[in-house]
Amino acid sequence: MSKMLDPKDIISIANRATALHTESEVDKALDSMAREISFDLYQSNPIVLCVMVGGIIPTGKLLTRLDFPLQVDYVHATRYGDEFVGQELEWLVKPRGSLEDRTVLIVDDILDGGLTLAGIADFCKQQGAKEVKTAVLVEKDVPRYGKAIKKADYTGVTVADKFVFGYGMDYKRYLRNAPGIFAVSEEDE
Ligand code: IMP
Ligand code: MG
Repeated sequence: MSKMLDPKDIISIANRATALHTESEVDKALDSMAREISFDLYQSNPIVLCVMVGGIIPTGKLLTRLDFPLQVDYVHATRYGDEFVGQELEWLVKPRGSLEDRTVLIVDDILDGGLTLAGIADFCKQQGAKEVKTAVLVEKDVPRYGKAIKKADYTGVTVADKFVFGYGMDYKRYLRNAPGIFAVSEEDE
């Protein structure tokens, strides 16, 4: 666990950050994701699987835009811990309900290297899901290799290869609540 940050430092980091997507831009992106998801899944009785913690805001913002029968569950699987460098997928919580024969829509904050989503999607298939779809609010413009998910089925906005926060995405476990998508300044990376 890295050392505690002073909340004052977090305010400075937020002030130095660059705004990439405003709240109204993200709202429009969520509207269009929700339209596509509704078109594809309105008759499939899906389980919407929130990837904690970063998926919490994208999932919540999508859910109220989806006007058809669905169930909600969550997983907590992470490659990051407090580090910026990806590690093995660590499972903290697996879905409680059965995925057998279900359509599953996995919702995460950001597609970066793509291994987190690939690992969770594999797990859902192993659990007998008949169809697995993926949705991310943000796609980072980086190459994705090997087993990684190269592209989510539903994507909100894209960002350059910078460390970003807001709308669920954290900087050292802070700033998930920022109402927009921001890139941390180089001095804070
Ligand atoms: P991937 O396996 O590299 O695609 O990792 C995706 C996960 O890493 C996401 O669920 C985020 O939790 C985290 N992540 C990747 N890039 C960022 C970022 O720029 N800001 C915040 N979290 C990130
Ligand atoms: Mg995550």
